[in-house]
Amino acid sequence: MTSATPEAAPFEGPPAVVGDGRELYAWLKRMRREAPVWIDPASGSCHVLRHADALRVLSEPAVFSSDFSSLAPPPEPGLPNFAEASLSVTDPPRHGQLRKLISQAFTPRTVAGLEPRIQAVTTELLDSIAERTDFDLVEELSGPLPVVVIAELLGIPSSDREMFRRWAEYLLPPSDEVTAGEFLEGGYAKTRAAELTEMADYLLSHVQDRRTTPRDDLLSRLAAAEADGERLTDKQMVNFSAFLLLAGHLTTTLFMSNALLSFAETPGTLTEIRKDPSLIPGALDEVLRYRPPVSFLYRLTREDTRIGEVDVPAGRIVVTWLLSANRDEVQFPDPDRFDPHRAPTGHLTFSHGIHFCLGAPLARMESSIVLNALLTRYRTITLGTPTYHQRPDIYGVTSLPVSVEPR
Ligand code: HEM
Repeated sequence: MTSATPEAAPFEGPPAVVGDGRELYAWLKRMRREAPVWIDPASGSCHVLRHADALRVLSEPAVFSSDFSSLAPPPEPGLPNFAEASLSVTDPPRHGQLRKLISQAFTPRTVAGLEPRIQAVTTELLDSIAERTDFDLVEELSGPLPVVVIAELLGIPSSDREMFRRWAEYLLPPSDEVTAGEFLEGGYAKTRAAELTEMADYLLSHVQDRRTTPRDDLLSRLAAAEADGERLTDKQMVNFSAFLLLAGHLTTTLFMSNALLSFAETPGTLTEIRKDPSLIPGALDEVLRYRPPVSFLYRLTREDTRIGEVDVPAGRIVVTWLLSANRDEVQFPDPDRFDPHRAPTGHLTFSHGIHFCLGAPLARMESSIVLNALLTRYRTITLGTPTYHQRPDIYGVTSLPVSVEPR
């Protein structure tokens, strides 16, 4: 079989995200059909569009690495390096060792134990706007809640919430400020040195405190975790805490508003769910498929390989499009239709394989609590005009005005 010559393929790269991103979706659909594995001649990156190929990329860490340190300049002395020993950018066998240690502390019981606090914080946030019939869901509820939950999980005092939220924003650079390459190469850390150092110092003080005075929180459990004679170092705990803030904040915020947007697209869904709340978990799973908060995942080829019909050399960035894999018509019939009864199997929203999202049950629980709380409190929820993030790496809204009619 002759190898395709993707370098010569007459395709443009992904369009900039404008409005609700329909041009991007159209591009992904066309590429799935015409160039499902495409090497962008401008950047050399390999775009993977189909579900089966994305699944393979995520399943084979020996070929598709999550460790980008070879692309990064040496860390700047004195600057916090959150990537170092971080779960998400580590390959086997080290990844397995770290994940085993962290999983001892971050258990299903830890997550289930948060339920009453999530309920309470949701009630608190909605009580604070009880007088209003018009508000922005992102500003009042879906934005603040996930940060508070991560602070609660770690055992960070609620009085420091605002600071914590500010850091979460610094960790995720606006895409017009930083290109993906700069981000992967760590250049971004320099532009936010003061804030990131402040955050690392703050987390370190909590880590050290829990070593001497353990409490009932994740930091204390992380400090006590031991696997194969190894314990987490202070730095690893700081990095993991910072990572949780990055991984669990905006993603969950987007998930909640994506749910309301999707339900509004299929009239009757909210009424149906209100009548039968047992439909909520299935409907939320379809939201995850239909509007995944994370658009793509990066991997780096460790060796020459072949994806589909295309030869991909070692050392290439692979852009694995979750947004596209979840709309692959081979995996999901009529994929552009939001169907709350679909019970989609195999969506890749939480990734697949060894890096499968550790916080998936938490994100599901938070969204389910929020949805239940909204349905219980309000007789009707009408969406205004949303404003979307204009960046390719995440999918969802920055603002979602709602008008509600209290019961
Ligand atoms: C809807 C919300 C969320 C989405 C869509 C999401 C998505 C993802 C994805 C796609 C990955 C895999 C990255 C990769 O394969 O390279 C991941 C990993 C991870 N997520 Fe989430 N996430 C969400 C919420 C959370 C929450 C709430 C937490 C915890 C507070 C969390 C913690 C983690 C951790 C620790 C990992 C690293 C796992 C590893 O590398 O072994 N996530 N997440």
